[in-house]
Amino acid sequence: MLEKIESLHEEQTKAVEAGGKYIARHKERGKLTARERIELLVDEGSAFLELMPLAGWGSDFAVGASMVTGIGVVEGVECMIVANDPTVKGGALNPWSLRKSFRAAEIAEKNFLPSINLTESGGADLPTQKDIFIPGGRGFRDLTRASARKQPTISVVFGNSTAGGAYVPGMSDYVIMVKERAKVFLAGPPLVKMATGEETDDESLGGAEMHSRISGSSDFLAVDELDAIRQARRVVARLNWRKQGTSPDPTSYAEPDLDPEELLDLIPTDLKEPFDPREAILRIVDGTGPNNAVAFDEFKPLYGSSLCVGWANLHGREIGILANARGVLMSEEAQKAAQFIQLANQKDTPLLFLHNTTGYMVGTEYEQGGIIKHGALMINAVSNSKVPHLTVIMGASYGAGNYGMNGRAYDPRFLFTWPSAKSAVMGPQQLAGVLEIVARESAEKKGEVFDAEGFKGIKEMVEGMVEEQSLPYFLSGMVYDDGVIDPRDTRTVLGICLSVIDNQPIEGAMNFGVFRL
Ligand code: COA
Repeated sequence: MLEKIESLHEEQTKAVEAGGKYIARHKERGKLTARERIELLVDEGSAFLELMPLAGWGSDFAVGASMVTGIGVVEGVECMIVANDPTVKGGALNPWSLRKSFRAAEIAEKNFLPSINLTESGGADLPTQKDIFIPGGRGFRDLTRASARKQPTISVVFGNSTAGGAYVPGMSDYVIMVKERAKVFLAGPPLVKMATGEETDDESLGGAEMHSRISGSSDFLAVDELDAIRQARRVVARLNWRKQGTSPDPTSYAEPDLDPEELLDLIPTDLKEPFDPREAILRIVDGTGPNNAVAFDEFKPLYGSSLCVGWANLHGREIGILANARGVLMSEEAQKAAQFIQLANQKDTPLLFLHNTTGYMVGTEYEQGGIIKHGALMINAVSNSKVPHLTVIMGASYGAGNYGMNGRAYDPRFLFTWPSAKSAVMGPQQLAGVLEIVARESAEKKGEVFDAEGFKGIKEMVEGMVEEQSLPYFLSGMVYDDGVIDPRDTRTVLGICLSVIDNQPIEGAMNFGVFRL
């Protein structure tokens, strides 16, 4: 596991160093990097939960998708921060940047967070404009809808913000521009010349002074980057922000009973080896502490034993946990899950799903026993549950098990992956094996002889491809999670998420779809 974590750090470093030689040039220009800007913006000593750092991994674009995003605490307020990385293609937005920024906006919306945009972007990545121009409009729509929901939006402009980029400050509630640096216009001087024949310059067209003194598109003129960050902090301090959540603010809680370091030994890197999720749970949730509370109150422990469910506290907040115990989900497990999800909704308690499943059981006995309708029952409960869901993919996440356990398509508030995880429609060997059976039957139907030897190469290729596509970096690159995390950080990461969730009240569902019983 340590090797996997080491490799994770190497991949994350690629995002930090994505600008390459342009980082030095940027600094020579007297500018701060996107990460430095964030570090100065957030409260001293507070955590910044970076989200989707591997976006774009495995694509033609730099890891990180030319932006840094995450949740940071500014003047005591949890904010969604989105910072363009101007050292990567001038901060231009590519298709992965779009996915990443849309997801950031979604997280801000669902958790009711103010957003701060640290703007410096060459706008659309021009060679891929066909993939971003039309859907990209959503970014501006989201900003103004956030404002209409009373979720404040702040834009601090550090440099170029052309065309579409100009609408980021344009649509924001509060705008700060850095003197002699911010350039905000719909079209730069060359395009203006082409369009209208007018000869003009950057400063008159879109300089910070002009916008602060003449157009009114900027509210505050900052003398430099540090001043801009200071002013952004003042704006947040004046938002009069109050968390709307109903959970009691935890004043104290006990650290886990068992040492989170031991997760490294406990979690097999070979997914075929089963492990008891209670061992993981007791290293993630609050411990018994001086009051001798029970760390994990398991529910229905004698029924449907390949799914372990129960109540625990994490950083002082109650959660319900559903964790796969022996991989396969059968009818009993699905029914138990549906009941437990209803109970969590009845008492407005968030749910944590811990994945290690090979999916729902197949075979005649199980089909006759109603595995489809029972799986549907669980998926119905997950889909219509209204309490916030958190998901951690610890190990396998295959087939409809990914859906029943609240995979990405089921809108978890946050979804993180461990480096040991794998997600796909089924395991690579199984998928290649199924393909071979289908190809063999197809040849037989046509009266042809099946070339088993020739198919070996195809099988190996498919197996290799599915293996690669089920790995965490690949899936994180596609923005199918919010980040790959060190298992030892799970408690801290989930603790931050639960605090973020508490920005608004939790109200469980009153209604579910029709349950086929
Ligand atoms: N799309 C794709 N690539 C872009 C880009 C864009 N919008 N903007 C910049 N780049 C690339 C450059 O081609 C260059 O690539 P290279 O390293 O392969 O040579 C790299 O990013 C760095 O650009 P550079 O111009 O050297 O950086 P800069 O910091 O001096 O200037 C900008 C940055 C954004 C001010 C400048 O590149 C620019 O004006 N870009 C075009 C902005 C625009 O008109 N966008 C249209 C939006 S709809």
